[in-house]
Amino acid sequence: MVFLLIFAVLVFMLAACGSSEKSGDNSTESQPEEKVSESKSEEVVTITYARGKDITPATQKMLEAFEDKYPNIKVNYQEMPSQSDQQHNAFVTALSAGDDSVDVYRLDIIWPSEFASAGWILPLDDYFSEEEREKFLQGPIQGCTYNGSIYAVPLYTDAGVLYYRKDLIPNPPETWDELYSIGKKLMDEGKVEYGFVFQANQYEGLVCNVLEYIHSNGGKVIDGSNVVLNSENAIEALNIFKKMLDIAPEGVTTYIENDGGVMFQEGKVAFMRNWPSWWSKLNSDESAVKGKVGVAPIPKGPNGDATGKATLGGWNLAINKNSKNKDAAWTFIEFMTGEEAQKIQAIEGGFLPVRQNLYKDADVIKANPHFESMYDVLVNALPRPVSPFYPKISESIQINTHKFLMGEIDAKTAIENMAKEIQEILEQ
Ligand code: GLC
Repeated sequence: MVFLLIFAVLVFMLAACGSSEKSGDNSTESQPEEKVSESKSEEVVTITYARGKDITPATQKMLEAFEDKYPNIKVNYQEMPSQSDQQHNAFVTALSAGDDSVDVYRLDIIWPSEFASAGWILPLDDYFSEEEREKFLQGPIQGCTYNGSIYAVPLYTDAGVLYYRKDLIPNPPETWDELYSIGKKLMDEGKVEYGFVFQANQYEGLVCNVLEYIHSNGGKVIDGSNVVLNSENAIEALNIFKKMLDIAPEGVTTYIENDGGVMFQEGKVAFMRNWPSWWSKLNSDESAVKGKVGVAPIPKGPNGDATGKATLGGWNLAINKNSKNKDAAWTFIEFMTGEEAQKIQAIEGGFLPVRQNLYKDADVIKANPHFESMYDVLVNALPRPVSPFYPKISESIQINTHKFLMGEIDAKTAIENMAKEIQEILEQ
């Protein structure tokens, strides 16, 4: 009897088990579930992408290509102010208040460690494999890595370059002195209104500019954890920078990238320090200097080594830790940093790709011949100090450099102030 009872219980249990297995497959009960998942795959997800204004058609074309390929993901493109500092402040305000309205943030290369250490952005190690990271330029990958984890995917890299009017200048200058004399001569001859334009407003772009003078004259800001900025080379570099005000428009100490860019595009200037993406704009139909522009490395100072040193810039895509659409956000990032989109970005916008193999791509090189000729200079650009406290370091460099350019303090005082303040920031 007992045996029979146990047997009956076992049969019942097996039957129940079988039916529940079935219900996981194709029983009638399973149908609503399947429908739900089908309708899920058709469901359109909208993600919000915040990035600064793109002066080229590249971003728009990349977004169109993305939506063609992924009709289920719509991208709400939130255009931010063009200045890096302004974007930074807007993002910090939103993220520190727990914002979840933006899924993908485009971050300047100087921010990932700050945003990661604040816990605002998602570590991407599970999405972005080490094998995949190896295909990218390593400078930007390092800039997106914090405490051994990767927090953003490089979208494009940047390196300061010297644009020159090749119709007026047969060979670009290799030193700042040469640049000054050629620029001055062309001004005196009335061939241009100004010799040189650059970014000298008190903002992040000024840091990029002044570091090019310092690094190109054998100076350095930090060595390991020591501040080594206070040197004769750095002081001399600042004085070279200030001399350039003589051949620049009077308002240059209020200029950001766009101000000089527009002037150069109008044919008023012999030389311009700017980022590679100006190439496509300067060669567009609306440009007065179309076909007359050359691109050369940043010049060097008397104590620099073989070539001048560009500042490393660039922008990177990160996922908001509070995003409700993390997988869709990743699909978007994967596309934007993949080969197809990177090619659109380089060809339509002149942006430096982040994938190494694209520097050998015939279409990319045809649109941007300097990517090949200046590959080493572009990919060996020097980073700004990497620190979660970078905004404070930047502020010190901006304030002191700007005061110096305005004649309020001398070069020695400016360098001493910066060295002292940066040391304090690092020790905090
Ligand atoms: C460019 C660079 C960025 C830099 C900014 C300064 O956008 O890519 O890294 O901070 O210029 O204006």
